[in-house]
Amino acid sequence: RKIKLDIARIDKDGHKHFMAKEIAEQPTAINRALAAYLDQNNQITLPEELDFTKVERLTLVACGTGYYACLAAKYWFEQIARMPVEVDVASEFRYREPPISAGTLAVFVSQSGETADTLAALRYCAGKAQQIAGLVNVPESSIARESDVVLPIHAGPEISVASTKAFTCQLVILLLMALKAAAQRGQPLPADLPEDLRSLPGLLHQVIAGEEQVTAVSRELAKAQDIIFLGRGHLYPLALEGALKLKELSYIHAEGYASGELKHGPIALIDETVPVVVIAPSDALFDKTVSNMQEVMARGGKVILVTDAKGAELASEGVAETLVLPHVNSVLTPILYAVPAQQIAYFTAIAKGTDVDQPRNLAKSVTVE
Ligand code: G6P
Repeated sequence: RKIKLDIARIDKDGHKHFMAKEIAEQPTAINRALAAYLDQNNQITLPEELDFTKVERLTLVACGTGYYACLAAKYWFEQIARMPVEVDVASEFRYREPPISAGTLAVFVSQSGETADTLAALRYCAGKAQQIAGLVNVPESSIARESDVVLPIHAGPEISVASTKAFTCQLVILLLMALKAAAQRGQPLPADLPEDLRSLPGLLHQVIAGEEQVTAVSRELAKAQDIIFLGRGHLYPLALEGALKLKELSYIHAEGYASGELKHGPIALIDETVPVVVIAPSDALFDKTVSNMQEVMARGGKVILVTDAKGAELASEGVAETLVLPHVNSVLTPILYAVPAQQIAYFTAIAKGTDVDQPRNLAKSVTVE
């Protein structure tokens, strides 16, 4: 069964593109997701069937942007809940025939809930995993129907092919799951969580309102043929997502790398024509990332540093452009820093004149293999 959306009836709400509208809707969408899973007393209220005391390991499977949400979640589940986590793209997972141990919670993340590879991966796990959870934006979808437990992400209809608000809502719910798992398994919660999640919509709003700092940077990026995104720790998946968004929308070749991996290959690409976007809030790994950034600058690379006020103060010297974001609890940086990654792709595409909402060769929902 296919759910058809009448796109003509969904309004752009004064925005030039659905993508701009959906970027701007993120504070509201996240508020909706929080209202569904976090009560007034900041207790996390997930479906009762999810009992992390009975789970031995997690398998997270998705495609595209959802896969990067899963990669970020791996850091959260491992560091906060101390649980072993495997993450895979559905098209690899389904044919690899991985052994699934009985204590596995298999989680399938899909905006549409209809992606053929993700659905096939889910079916492979049926009868093998202890439980199958579906994180979907479309609660009537095939993935939702075939999951033991469904967690709607509450992003609201997403029309633009490039995923934005579904990504940040997926991240919020995966983080709530990791926090719930930690609580159920007697692990200490990180300071000020889950309360600090409440500050996210306001902070996202600030970043969205400050989009003009990205437009000038994007005009420069639009002249490049290759762009590298670097991040470390739970910002590494954001580097991958930033590169994916940029190539999808602007058709500029972009690659995301773990900044510590730079010296093992990609540094050979660096010269004055290859801009490097460094995603580095001032967290525990900041100094490490800054030293990778300096290696880039020493080879003539043009750095765009995405950081907070403290990071900008410590490391802006020699950097071509600095995008400054408000300070946020470091656990939450993948969610807040998703916005500049989206804005860079959006404004670079505008500067190049490509079709933002319907990039060539791409489909919103891939229901065939
Ligand atoms: C397509 C879309 C992407 C999306 C991916 C997975 O490639 O263009 O934006 O991330 O499918 O889709 P899903 O609906 O399963 O999240």
